[in-house]
Amino acid sequence: MEATFGLRSGVLGWAEPATRIDDGTASHLALVDGTAVIAVVSHARWPCPDAPEQPARYFWAMAVDGAHRGRGAGRRLLAAVADRARSAGESILWADARASAVGFYVACGARVVGPPYVDEVTGLTDRRVLLPVDGG
Ligand SMILES: CC(C)(COP(=O)(O)OP(=O)(O)OC[C@H]1O[C@@H](n2cnc3c(N)ncnc32)[C@H](O)[C@@H]1OP(=O)(O)O)[C@@H](O)C(=O)NCCC(=O)NCCS
Repeated sequence: MEATFGLRSGVLGWAEPATRIDDGTASHLALVDGTAVIAVVSHARWPCPDAPEQPARYFWAMAVDGAHRGRGAGRRLLAAVADRARSAGESILWADARASAVGFYVACGARVVGPPYVDEVTGLTDRRVLLPVDGG
């Protein structure tokens, strides 16, 4: 977690290395190039308010280093989170997506649900995105 803070601080503007779901269940995935963290995402089992009956995995703080964008790193991380969800018997992934990243999630198979809202953690205007977990 601490090793990813530099990237998250630079890309997402994190002020401190806190996790969004701080109950001990959060996991963190990163891609590294040598010793450099080039992409990171956090995730945890967490019910989705838009589909509360389905076992779900929430992910947040997806960040890819600027020099490595557009090469599939984000898609690979999302696929890795989906693998974790599938293994845990979950059927959807969901996130609070900043407007500039919604197109990325849609390109990766997400659908946008509901109206824009202000994320109480980041203060940004977000959209809720849901992705099916194939085979989940
Ligand atoms: C959004 C982000 C994670 C995407 O990571 P990436 O590694 O550049 O994305 P990929 O190369 O895996 O792209 C996968 C697909 O999404 C598309 N895509 C990537 N970023 C996009 C964007 N901002 N808008 C629309 N489409 C996008 C790519 O063209 C690609 O489509 P294709 O496979 O059909 O050609 C990365 O740009 C980033 O870290 N941005 C800043 C932080 C951020 O916004 N994080 C998300 C917080 S909610």
